[in-house]
Amino acid sequence: MQVVVAMMKRIVEPELMTGESQALAYARADFESAHSSYPKLFSKKFPRRPRRALALDLGCGPCDVTIRFANANPGYTFHAVDGSAAMLRYARTAIALQRGLSRRIKLIAGFIPGAPIPRRSYDVILSSSFLHHLHDPAVLWETVRQYAKRGTIVFIADLRRPPSRASARAFAQKYSRGEPEVLRRDFFNSLLAAFTPAEVRRQLKKAGLDGLQVETISDRHLVVFGRISQPPA
Ligand SMILES: C[S@@+](CC[C@H](N)C(=O)[O-])C[C@H]1O[C@@H](n2cnc3c(N)ncnc32)[C@H](O)[C@@H]1O
Repeated sequence: MQVVVAMMKRIVEPELMTGESQALAYARADFESAHSSYPKLFSKKFPRRPRRALALDLGCGPCDVTIRFANANPGYTFHAVDGSAAMLRYARTAIALQRGLSRRIKLIAGFIPGAPIPRRSYDVILSSSFLHHLHDPAVLWETVRQYAKRGTIVFIADLRRPPSRASARAFAQKYSRGEPEVLRRDFFNSLLAAFTPAEVRRQLKKAGLDGLQVETISDRHLVVFGRISQPPA
């Protein structure tokens, strides 16, 4: 007899993280293990990437991930976009503490879609933990298509939804223990709002981006990566 396990349905959370205490807790949280792995995985997936590039970071938050990419790729400059003024304030402070990064990371305030992104296209498009915030995930893939050109490198890291509320609660306990209540709550809600790898593959197919690959990289993360082969129509 085949046993079919029903997957928990997605429950959306608010898109923007505008709360003061929410942004503060997020900016101070310890994301070392996940965030330090992204630039390493990026180098592994794209060994022949350009040494100099203009990168777009969608939903940059306090820029911990942007800063790690900037330090690992000294020839890159970044346009980092977020719709939360509180998050961008923490980003500005974090960038100012890093020598030379204020010149290489330009912050852009704005809601996606519609944010005033200054260039028509980018060499690299990044995002981390942004997809699961979107009520309509097509917004991310349309934005990728809009700002890509032939050869653009795409690297999107995100949470993946566990099969049940109980497993989401277990992850929240395991990975946000010791963090403020607001962060533990947000992490739990983010796990419920995240997509499964199969759902992301369907989104990519619908968006005409099925040349990109989806890979599970940890018990709670996935990554979407690849190069854009066709310029947007
Ligand atoms: C969980 S944080 C991730 C921040 C950062 N990329 C990281 O990995 O640490 C998600 C960020 O996306 C922003 N965000 C969510 N939806 C957005 C939208 N539609 N437009 C602009 N920013 C958005 C939130 O304000 C928040 O700062």
